[in-house]
Amino acid sequence: MKRYSRITGTGSFLPARRLTNADLVAELASQGIETSDEWIVERTGIRARHFAADGVFSSDLGLEAAKRALASAGRSAQDIDLIIVATSTPDMVFPSTACILQNKLGAHGGAAFDVQAVCSGFVYAMTIADAMIQTGAATRALVVGAEIFSRILDFKDRTTCVLFGDGAGAIVMEASDRPGILASDLHADGKYVDILCVPGHVSGGSVLGDPLLKMDGQAVFKLAVGVLESAARATLYKAGKTEADIDWLIPHQANIRIMQSTARRLKLSMDKVIVTVDQHGNTSAASIPLALDSAVRSGQIKEGQTLMLEGVGGGFTWGAVLLIL
Ligand code: ACO
Repeated sequence: MKRYSRITGTGSFLPARRLTNADLVAELASQGIETSDEWIVERTGIRARHFAADGVFSSDLGLEAAKRALASAGRSAQDIDLIIVATSTPDMVFPSTACILQNKLGAHGGAAFDVQAVCSGFVYAMTIADAMIQTGAATRALVVGAEIFSRILDFKDRTTCVLFGDGAGAIVMEASDRPGILASDLHADGKYVDILCVPGHVSGGSVLGDPLLKMDGQAVFKLAVGVLESAARATLYKAGKTEADIDWLIPHQANIRIMQSTARRLKLSMDKVIVTVDQHGNTSAASIPLALDSAVRSGQIKEGQTLMLEGVGGGFTWGAVLLIL
C-alpha cells in the first residue's frame, strides 16, 4: 500500500503588539519618514501587522504555533519524530531554531533542522517532510514557519519597512494510506540573489556588511507573478488535476496585487483565494501556515477540500504544494 503524508493539525501565533497602518505611519513620521495608509493599502493591501517584543525569538512564536497545531492534531510533542522550521530570522547563527524549538517543546531525539528559502521556506519544508514521510524516514512531522522580520527591517527605508510583520504558523503532517499531499514543485534561481537579500554576514565578532533587508520591489513583483503561475500549473500537471479542482489557493501573503494577478492567470475567482496579508503583512515563511490556520479555524477551509499552497521569495525561490486536507 502506498504511504502518503497528510496534514492532521494546524496552529498559528501572532505577537501581541499590533500596529495598524496609522500606528506605523505615526511612528515613522516621528523619525522623519513619510508614508500613508492610502499608499500602503493601495499598493499592497496591508492594513496591519504584528511586531514581536524585545527578547522574543522565532522559536518562541513557533512554540505557541506548534502547541496549537499539536493540540488540533490530538498529538503530544513526544509523538513527533521530525521538526522542520522554515525561517530566515533564526534565533542564533547556530544551532537551528528547530533544535531550540524541540527543546522548548520537551521532545527529544527526533530529527530537527531549519530550511532557509525565505518566503518559499514553508512549501520547501512541507515538500521535504512529505518526502521523508513517504520514504519512511519520518512518521509524524511538525512543520513550522516562524519569522521576526521586524528585526531585519530598515525603518529608514519606506519602500520595505511598511511591508513586513512577525508571526508563526505550524502544521502536523502524518503518514497515512489516504493521500494528503498530492504533488509539489520547487525551484530556485540564484542569479536573482541581489533583488531581495540581507547582505550582511557575521565575521570576527561583528556583522560585516548591511544586516537589513534590501529589495528591488518591482523586479520581485514581475518575477513573482510569472513563477507563481508556472509552479501552480506544474503541480497540477504532476497530480493529474486542473485549476477547476482547486477549492482554495493559499499564496504567500506578500501583496494583494500579486495574489490578484496570480488568481487571474489561473482563472480562479478571488473568492477562492485565502487573504490575510491585510491583517498580517508579509510574514515570510510564516505567511502560508498563518493563512492556512486562520482559514481552517474560521471554517472557510473544510476537511476534504483541495488546497494549492504557493510560496515565492528571496533566493530567488518559488514552489507549490497541492494537497487534500
Ligand atoms: N509610502 C509612500 N510612498 C512610497 C512608499 C511608501 N511606503 N514606498 C515607495 N513610495 C513611493 C516611491 O518613492 C515612488 O515614488 P516616485 O514615483 O516619486 O519615485 C512611488 O511610491 C512608487 O514606487 P514603486 O516602487 O514604483 O511602487 P510599486 O507600485 O512598485 O510598489 C511594492 C512597491 C509594494 C514594494 C511592490 O513593488 C511590491 O509589492 N513588490 C513585491 C514585493 C514582494 O512581493 N516581496 C515578496 C517577497 S518577500 C521575501 O521573500 C522576503
